[in-house]
Amino acid sequence: MRYQTSLLNLGVTAMLTLGTAIPVLAQEVNIYSSRHYDTDEKLYSDFTDATGIEVNRIEGEADELIARLRAEGANSPADILLTVDAGRIWLADREGLLQPVSSEVLNERIPEHLRHPDGHWFGFSTRARTIFYAKDRVDNPPLTYAALADPEWEGRLCVRSASNIYNLSLMGAIIAHEGPDAAKTWAEGVLANLARPPEGGDTDQLRGLVSGVCDVALSNTYYFARALDQDIDGLTGSTDGIGIVFPDQDGNGTHVNIAAAGVTANAPNRDAAVAFLEYLTSPSAQEFFANQNYEFPVVEGVETGPVAASLGDFKSDTLNLNALGENQPDAQRIFNEVGFP
Ligand SMILES: [Fe+2]
Repeated sequence: MRYQTSLLNLGVTAMLTLGTAIPVLAQEVNIYSSRHYDTDEKLYSDFTDATGIEVNRIEGEADELIARLRAEGANSPADILLTVDAGRIWLADREGLLQPVSSEVLNERIPEHLRHPDGHWFGFSTRARTIFYAKDRVDNPPLTYAALADPEWEGRLCVRSASNIYNLSLMGAIIAHEGPDAAKTWAEGVLANLARPPEGGDTDQLRGLVSGVCDVALSNTYYFARALDQDIDGLTGSTDGIGIVFPDQDGNGTHVNIAAAGVTANAPNRDAAVAFLEYLTSPSAQEFFANQNYEFPVVEGVETGPVAASLGDFKSDTLNLNALGENQPDAQRIFNEVGFP
């Protein structure tokens, strides 16, 4: 496998530098991560077993980690920043907190639209932002994002706040495809259709379908998948009554986002950091990384976990996700202009 070649190179480099094979064991990689699951432990220990590189983690909210990186500057011990949503890692990149990585392994395995054009960050799992509906009240659900703005859905829609990064990123994609004027008209239409002022996270929008507050809701796929597999209050046990639509299958494809990681600008262990990112594209790590949050692997040929796969096959939008960040200021401006809370 390709990533093993790189790990070998890493070992050779260490031997040349220090004159012995042992220092490879003393290597470490420091990860600032806003993604944390109990099952991560095995992902990290497998990497250490395979390479001898110790993994140290600091976990926190993306905004906190980015602020910490900024404050630490050149003295930061961080080698890798790991976040969810391309819009968030774009914010870190805009501040110069990431550096370019040129890796054949990463470029070959990760589809082009799921990584920064110059290797500042890479996507390691995808999630789709999809439409859910109450089967008993909706016969013909909206099949496109555009349809969410149709007057037919007046007072029937649950969507979380526009300030949330998931909605900013979706809006960024709509701006990229339709232009800012059409995007603004869409935002006005969606706002007019809300069943209630935005409240809570994606799970709360799905709960709204169960409680009858709304008939149609917008949510990332993994929140629904989680309720199929775990006990989620107000949702588990009622999922049979909820239908899913992967929007825009006859158009651009469904909007997807990523869990993304990049090498920090001042990474003290750059080679180990690249080796870790390459490891994340190995089939076993891919399965593990995606499945633990009911997401989709990015590497071709790696099987999607059974729960996420049960949602169905779909065509993804292949817009380069860097556009979501680049359009983020416009997305925020448009939501503000139409008064979307
Ligand atoms: Fe989330």
